[in-house]
Amino acid sequence: MTKQLDRIKELVELRAQARMGGGEKAIGKQHDKGKYTARERIAMLLDEGSFEELDMFVRHRCTNFGQEKKSFPGDGVVTGYGTIDGRLVYVFAQDFTVFGGSLSETMAQKICKVMDLAMKMGAPVIGINDSGGARIQEGINALAGYAEIFQRNILASGVIPQISGIFGPCAGGAVYSPALTDFTLMMEGTSYMFLTGPKVVKTVTGEDVSQEDLGGASVHSTKSGVTHFTASTEEEGLALIRKLLSYMPQNNMEEAPYVECTDPIDRMEDSLNEIIPDNPNKAYDMYEVISAIVDNGEFLEVQKNYATNIIIGFARFNGQSVGIVANQPCRYAGVLDCNASRKGARFVRFCDAFNIPIVSLVDVPGFLPGTGQEYNAVILHGAKLLYAYGEATVPKVTVTLRKSYGGSHIVMSCKQLRGDMNYAWPSAEIAVMGGAGAVEVLYAKEAKEAADPKAFMAEKEAEYTKLFANPYNAAKYGYIDDVIEPRNTRFRIIRALAQLQTKKVVNPAKKHGNIPL
Ligand code: HXC
Repeated sequence: MTKQLDRIKELVELRAQARMGGGEKAIGKQHDKGKYTARERIAMLLDEGSFEELDMFVRHRCTNFGQEKKSFPGDGVVTGYGTIDGRLVYVFAQDFTVFGGSLSETMAQKICKVMDLAMKMGAPVIGINDSGGARIQEGINALAGYAEIFQRNILASGVIPQISGIFGPCAGGAVYSPALTDFTLMMEGTSYMFLTGPKVVKTVTGEDVSQEDLGGASVHSTKSGVTHFTASTEEEGLALIRKLLSYMPQNNMEEAPYVECTDPIDRMEDSLNEIIPDNPNKAYDMYEVISAIVDNGEFLEVQKNYATNIIIGFARFNGQSVGIVANQPCRYAGVLDCNASRKGARFVRFCDAFNIPIVSLVDVPGFLPGTGQEYNAVILHGAKLLYAYGEATVPKVTVTLRKSYGGSHIVMSCKQLRGDMNYAWPSAEIAVMGGAGAVEVLYAKEAKEAADPKAFMAEKEAEYTKLFANPYNAAKYGYIDDVIEPRNTRFRIIRALAQLQTKKVVNPAKKHGNIPL
């Protein structure tokens, strides 16, 4: 055998060794937990055969605690690039079989390398987290590595889409990388995220809590809103990441890809003409409206189980990707509160950053009153949504289905917040406040003097309702561009979006705004 062939043989062996990560035993342990390895995950995530691995021969440089005697080619993360639906993406997947996927200085360098490449090429980054946190033996160097990653997360924010999959532990300061990215997906039962684990919680606060109850997928999808998606199997989770990316452009200078539309654009949905109940206090399900109007009824909901009084997610109209923000009348009457406002605001900002038009479906009675909300700064949270809509320069199409009262009318993409096309159904009620409350303020004194105060107030309320609980008063001033037939909503939205294709609005130059955080 020639020297050259010898060297090639050595390369093949080294590659094979690197592909084994922490070795057969550790891989077996990973599988026993019902988890895939980093390389298996990447293979499922990317288009078949498209993965190009980088830095396979990188090893850690730590000599503390005898670490120099224990090292694995590639260290605890698999990095590289490939394609999803033929589009370039960069990926890193922490390898739990190597030192529990704990982050070493060199691992951080590998991750930063793909992040830098993603920025240079203008392509999304997907990070699969499965790690025991900072590599304890490396001390401050591991911490510095995290900080390097966070800095890149921050600079990449709004430039390229960043998606985090949590497929195992993600604890301590390590949680801040996913938190800085655009979307997080957690695995049900096998992943958790918390700043301090159950043992530290017990020591510091005396509270007894399991890993699952402290930071499992169900907690973060319902209570904290930290995760945007959950999945019950890794296959499902990875498929969801692929689907999510299909709604996004590669970077902030591009548009999301068009998908051929097989759903007739002028499809009439007669059911919508009867969906609004006669009784204004009765609810209906906004999901029915969404699925009736979008292409093929397909809707990828984001934060499905968190702040359910507002619905956010991706859909398409005539093949064009849009972000949908909708009040949900059958959850707390669709009221806006602290959590719903934050949820909506972050989504609006994502869509705006990545040139995705926003379609808002409005049925909102107002902001939730009370000390619970005021003490939790509903003023600031509501202002976030207001700010997000007001600064957004992407096409904004708003349809008011029923209620649109007071501050919440303004917040939900009204005309003066640069709503491009504002439509209303004939059932729309656009006013400062509801009839009962309004007459209470306006006629309390007169009611006391009336022969029959109750009848007097009822008469005044009917008068107020007739005057304001309709779309025509707003339309009279041009605040509503047209009153449309509900069954024709899909077609009108598609027409509006087509018209807005060439929209150009530039905000005043500034370093950055000061959104009320
Ligand atoms: C070095 C680590 C490690 C770590 C795990 N390992 N975490 N090595 N540094 N942080 C090693 C283990 O020693 C073990 O090595 C292998 O990975 C697998 O770990 P196991 O404990 O056997 O696995 P499991 O039982 O599944 O438990 C997983 C775990 C646990 C819950 C994550 O390993 C754990 O609690 N690790 C420590 C977590 C932690 O406190 N990290 C520091 C957080 S502070 P062998 O050789 O036996 O296979 C932090 C600050 C970040 O991260 C700040 C950023 C700003």
